[in-house]
Amino acid sequence: MRNRIWETQDARRALITGASAGLGESFAHLLAEEGWDLALVARRESELHRVAGVLRARHGVDVQVVPLDLSQPGSEALLADRLAAKGFAPDVLINNAGFGLVGRATDLPLDRQLEMIDLNLRAAVALSLRFLPSMAERGRGGVLNVASLAAFMPGPNMAVYFATKAALLSFSEALAEEMTGSGVTVAAFCPGPVRTGFLDASGVSRTWLSRVLRPAGVDTVARAGWQGFKEGRTVIVPGLLNTLMAWSARFAPRGLTRRVTRLLLVPRGRGAKTGNAEDATKDGEA
Ligand SMILES: NC(=O)c1ccc[n+]([C@@H]2O[C@H](COP(=O)([O-])OP(=O)(O)OC[C@H]3O[C@@H](n4cnc5c(N)ncnc54)[C@H](OP(=O)(O)O)[C@@H]3O)[C@@H](O)[C@H]2O)c1
Repeated sequence: MRNRIWETQDARRALITGASAGLGESFAHLLAEEGWDLALVARRESELHRVAGVLRARHGVDVQVVPLDLSQPGSEALLADRLAAKGFAPDVLINNAGFGLVGRATDLPLDRQLEMIDLNLRAAVALSLRFLPSMAERGRGGVLNVASLAAFMPGPNMAVYFATKAALLSFSEALAEEMTGSGVTVAAFCPGPVRTGFLDASGVSRTWLSRVLRPAGVDTVARAGWQGFKEGRTVIVPGLLNTLMAWSARFAPRGLTRRVTRLLLVPRGRGAKTGNAEDATKDGEA
């Protein structure tokens, strides 16, 4: 069954998590350009209002701002209630909010790593399952889960982050298959490094990975993800080098993939000894 969302003349609504910055903000601009009404979620209310103000002024679309910490248990139910109170039923959900941390799993704070699982995986799963049934009932729309190239391999020195993205990819692929014939699209978007605040916040900008795979521009990457979703692709990997990396991770011996990834995730400079990106010298000093 075709996804009727691309043909409808009705108002179209999308819910985007992590829309106060980076890829989420870029997705919001792309969809607003196409006339979608939006609900934007993240923790920083002031940043959400900044993004919403620009979108309303430029594109005249309706934008709801929902400040929420999605790593908190029950946050997805709270979000669903708040949207229902506003009469906002999303046709498309973009599960984009996420964060990562470079360092040995045994050295990084346990609480933060569990929070990562809650945000990157639990919230994305919960929101997908909360909104998909009504999308399937309407026979249109879908869910775009922002995973990562990290989904294709284990990530020593970023173990929990890579595991969350691998699980999100697996979940999305399985869900896409379950939704066959429903008119709904489910996709996993798997970009390599992107120039957003994520790189510094996670410590990836201080590893060899961001030297080997040059970070791509945020708007270009978001556009590739949205285009792939509109084409109905289930797994979207933007860029030739990323596609080769994903492909080789599937077919190379697992032990080799693990070792190469570990080397790429070693912080350059001082942090190389501890494995901790916080200790690493700044970009260019390595
Ligand atoms: N940048 C990359 O290299 C890269 C590569 C592959 C995949 N990705 C994935 O792309 C997605 C977007 O990342 P980005 O690069 O755009 O990073 P970013 O610029 O750091 O943006 C992350 C977004 O998530 C929101 N967020 C963080 N914690 C949250 C929480 N607890 N509750 C609700 N919202 C929260 C942030 O807003 P607040 O701080 O206001 O809450 C922000 O809007 C992530 O899932 C990331 O894993 C990124």
